[in-house]
Amino acid sequence: MKYFDILTGMKYTEPHGFRCKVQSMELQKVVSAYEKDLAVVEEFLEKEHESYVELIPEISRHIIMSGGKRIRPLLLMICSDLFGFHGDVRHPLAAVLEFIHTASLLHDDVIDHANMRRGKTSANRIWGNAASVLVGDYLYAKAFKLLTASSNHDVQKIVSEATTTMVEGETIQLIKSGDVAISEEEYFSIIEKKTAVLMAAACALGAVLAGENSESVDLMKEFGAKLGVTFQLTDDTLDYVGVEEDFGKTIGMDIREGKMTLPLIWALRQCSPSERDRIRDIIASKEADDEEVIEIARFIRAYGGIDYALARAAGFVDEAKKLIAPLPESFAKEALLAVADHILKRNL
Ligand code: IPE
Ligand code: IPE
Ligand code: MG
Ligand code: MG
Repeated sequence: MKYFDILTGMKYTEPHGFRCKVQSMELQKVVSAYEKDLAVVEEFLEKEHESYVELIPEISRHIIMSGGKRIRPLLLMICSDLFGFHGDVRHPLAAVLEFIHTASLLHDDVIDHANMRRGKTSANRIWGNAASVLVGDYLYAKAFKLLTASSNHDVQKIVSEATTTMVEGETIQLIKSGDVAISEEEYFSIIEKKTAVLMAAACALGAVLAGENSESVDLMKEFGAKLGVTFQLTDDTLDYVGVEEDFGKTIGMDIREGKMTLPLIWALRQCSPSERDRIRDIIASKEADDEEVIEIARFIRAYGGIDYALARAAGFVDEAKKLIAPLPESFAKEALLAVADHILKRNL
């Protein structure tokens, strides 16, 4: 596999050592506190993706066991603690969210023609599109089987609605692919749907499980949605400025795919008409080579597109933190604040 540095255009063949998990002390504390819960979630993930059709676990193991951050399960655990619910049903439900997320990644990598996922060659590259789509389907099906671990109608509603919305978000993004006229509002609407709703669901489920009223459920939903938007904003900047061995995905993929993300949308709003035409031509060709990718990355930097997207991300994190500020002090609340800060500063 070849790794690519978008700013220098340099290529190197091997990652230098292990993926570097740069985490704050605060986040490390949170992850340690939830280590046991996350281990139980892992057991569900390992057990529930089995099938007598050997190709299925072969592919699902490849993606599930290659070190995802498990941020959605973690959010579910913390948010249920926040409202004093510690029941065992959290674990299969956290696995449900991770399965849905993983299924969406298998499909997403087919859609995006990805080469790398979680620091490894992506499933679509190894086994092909058809197998990736089918195993994604299998994981969605498993997720909904596992969802029956809870007979709570609200839990089922939140999970199924989030899944539906994610697909709508990915589809709108597909329709808007390569459209240099896309507005910021349209971009935000896409990322709310494709990414933020699942984090919103993770947080809302914590309150639902604890039997909280709709006001608290809505508050946590909104909190999770803001974290989710921040998460996709940082992801979209890392696509331009990340280091592949940390990020675990190929840098510069969004341009190659014609994906219009905020750093580019911002730069296109600032530039001259001739620059805009040039960028549109590169994107429309759908075959941007390394030099053109570097040209666009520099164009975005020159107009402050990365700084703008990160400033917007910081705004969303602030809003998220303000939402939970009135809640009583607790370890869970501190943990949520640490996760929020981490999402803004993450490099993987
Ligand atoms: C990747 O999500 C897809 C996006 C929403 C940007 P994560 O960054 O949470 O992926 P893993 O699970 O840690 O690999
Ligand atoms: C997020 O979109 C993926 C889903 C919500 C399914 P991206 O296409 O931007 O995410 P990465 O960069 O492939 O992880
Ligand atoms: Mg993708
Ligand atoms: Mg995608």
